[in-house]
Amino acid sequence: MSNPNKPLLPPPVPAPDLSVSLGRLRLPNPILVASGTFGYGREMVGFVALDRLGGIVPKTITQLPRRGNVPWRTVETSAGLLNSIGLDNDGIEAFLKNQLPWLKQCGAPVIVSIAGATQPEFVQMADQLEGVPGIAALELNISCPNVSHGIDLGTDPEMCRRVVAGVRGVTKIPVIAKLTPNVTDIVAIAKGAQDGGADAITLINTCQGIAVDWRRRRPMLGNVIGGLSGPAIKPIALRCVYQVRQALDIPIVGVGGILSIDDCMEFFVTGASAVQIGTANFADPRASMNLLAALPGALAEMNATRMTDLIGSLMAGAGAPAGELQKAAGNQTHAS
Ligand SMILES: Cc1cc2nc3c(=O)[nH]c(=O)nc-3n(C[C@H](O)[C@H](O)[C@H](O)COP(=O)(O)O)c2cc1C
Repeated sequence: MSNPNKPLLPPPVPAPDLSVSLGRLRLPNPILVASGTFGYGREMVGFVALDRLGGIVPKTITQLPRRGNVPWRTVETSAGLLNSIGLDNDGIEAFLKNQLPWLKQCGAPVIVSIAGATQPEFVQMADQLEGVPGIAALELNISCPNVSHGIDLGTDPEMCRRVVAGVRGVTKIPVIAKLTPNVTDIVAIAKGAQDGGADAITLINTCQGIAVDWRRRRPMLGNVIGGLSGPAIKPIALRCVYQVRQALDIPIVGVGGILSIDDCMEFFVTGASAVQIGTANFADPRASMNLLAALPGALAEMNATRMTDLIGSLMAGAGAPAGELQKAAGNQTHAS
């Protein structure tokens, strides 16, 4: 006989489908870690279950080793971090020998970030990586503010198109162009990347800024100008995602100031198919894992069962923030 006191359990809720597609690249979930903020992965082993990440973007590599810029190379600011690392890395040969073999056994898609000093150098590096097992995609860093040639290629739509097209011409690996916000018209640059054949674009790299020690009358960074990251730039990154999503169809990876699951959801709703966690990794190396754990709950709150239910679902017109209308109504009652 059935027990009448036994509570009726609700049917189990199926786990949401967290997978996303960036053009030809399919990722198990949309939580990635951003280049330059996660080393080459080894440093994070004690904190992050690497095989659970949607993707790892290791530190950008260049053709030849680079020592990077003179110190100081990082300064904390009131709502972010200013850095001028200057693409300090051991070069592509050392990456292939020492880092990739380890990275590719981690279990997460590895998106290799490359920066050429010129368009032909980008093409040469991509050619060298073509056919190398264990590379899920290439992220073209045409947006580093901290090297002399850094953003030149990413501030002109035609140069952007030529870099992407050149890389597409020599490799079958999916290509993501990482763009700089330090431009007048982000849509024009994104269109250049799309016309060049990019599978997706990453928005955004850091915003140029400086920090000053007024007592010593000196700039704080050895390179004077650096790239600002962290919470201060989230509205800029969201604006870039918004403008590109409104104008073009290319998949977008959102990055800039993401700390919380609310930040992630803002990017998804605005039009990003995936997000990268950057500066937050320095404040809390477990940040990416915490966000991944919180994602199913946030989807459920929106009655979404798949990421695609959410991506780009931003509605037209401003609405009062959730709860504000009720609060305003309450205040009115008290006031009257
Ligand atoms: C210390 C530091 C180093 C970075 N190095 C790189 C890099 O090598 N390549 C790159 O594409 N972006 C680099 N970035 C930019 C980040 O990947 C990211 O685009 C940017 O910081 C914005 O995201 P966030 O506000 O979440 O950090 C670096 C950022 C920081 C803070």
